[in-house]
Amino acid sequence: MKVLVTGGSGYIGSHTALLLLEAGHEVVVVDNLSNSSKESINRVAELTGKEPSFHQVDLLDEAALAQVFAEHNIDAVIHFAGLKAVGESSIIPLAYYHNNVAGSISLLRAMEAAGVRTIIFSSSATVYGDGNSIPYVEKMEIGATNPYGRTKEMVEDILNDLGTADSSWRIALLRYFNPVGAHPSGRIGEDPLGIPNNLVPFIAQVAVGRREKLMVFGGDYETPDGTAQRDYIHVMDLAAGHLAALDYVNDKAGVYRWNLGSGVGTSVLEMLHAFERAVGHDLPYEITGRRAGDLPAFWADASSALADLGWSTTKTVDQMCEDHWRWQHNNPNGYQEG
Ligand code: NAD
Ligand code: WQD
Repeated sequence: MKVLVTGGSGYIGSHTALLLLEAGHEVVVVDNLSNSSKESINRVAELTGKEPSFHQVDLLDEAALAQVFAEHNIDAVIHFAGLKAVGESSIIPLAYYHNNVAGSISLLRAMEAAGVRTIIFSSSATVYGDGNSIPYVEKMEIGATNPYGRTKEMVEDILNDLGTADSSWRIALLRYFNPVGAHPSGRIGEDPLGIPNNLVPFIAQVAVGRREKLMVFGGDYETPDGTAQRDYIHVMDLAAGHLAALDYVNDKAGVYRWNLGSGVGTSVLEMLHAFERAVGHDLPYEITGRRAGDLPAFWADASSALADLGWSTTKTVDQMCEDHWRWQHNNPNGYQEG
């Protein structure tokens, strides 16, 4: 298949592009490079021996998107492109709605015009909000509590309406839990701009000496060690989930939603200690106040993805940290050093 990957030079997109190429698909990447570097695509080409076609295009530029569809005979789209910082989304909500919602509409209009009807969309566990019991199951009512999450919910609604209006659409909504880790080669990985918002990239920067210590947000939750629990998923397992979803919807029209998680909760301190094992020594940390908006604990019920797609996670938290550390150690400044 020829697959258009929006946001393909970003963290999850680059790992998925790599697996698509390894599986024999052709890959066309559209990315505006607002949060990534073209170097990730160079490295995907180096690792696979195959060159993705790269277009520096903003999703909001519908005419440029139409040109990409005219140039390539696209069979399916995997749609990663979007802004993803939860805290920032409350400060500049319009930018988030414009980029993530209007950008997705622009993409869908270009797909419709080009006759492409297959899309895999990056949704998020954040759509479950704070009113559900754990583990989260796909059939639960959703209700995001921040603008970023609401952009995901809105795009899910748009895709659902599209699938209802025209039954030829093949749509997968993938709700990711907490992606971490890197390709085992250490050549591609997550390269956050500025101070990392997420736990593992922050720990990795402490380990490499770019940050002084980890601030653990909350030590008084009602969890086994008092720190919050999340469902961490290795980015290679997550990438594989996209290929499985693509295979599934390719011969079954309709709208499908799957959690992509491990089904297991890991605490902040357990994650820190796993990272310490990967690095080979202790790392400095301090327990501080809770971060606004954080939930004590959540993880996926991952049984639908297993039943429908035959997909489940394969990598342990230790492997996630070892691979994340290899990437960070070999590339202390991310892609900046080329
Ligand atoms: P990322 O920032 O590394 O990748 C997103 C890519 O999209 C970047 O390369 C960016 O330059 C590009 N982009 C953004 N807006 C664009 C636009 N208007 N036009 C073209 N390109 C644009 O993020 P990621 O971690 O790889 O996340 C990929 C997707 O998965 C996002 O939609 C994100 O919301 C979603 N998601 C991520 C997580 C996570 O924790 N990483 C969890 C759940 C869902
Ligand atoms: C994990 C745990 C923090 C940083 C976010 C988004 C979610 C999804 C994944 C996109 C929490 C704690 C963190 C630090 C800490 N993204 N922590 N010190 O908040 O579960 O999910 O990323 O869709 O939508 O909300 O992930 O990695 O930020 O935090 O103690 O410096 O680590 O409080 O308990 P989160 P995270």
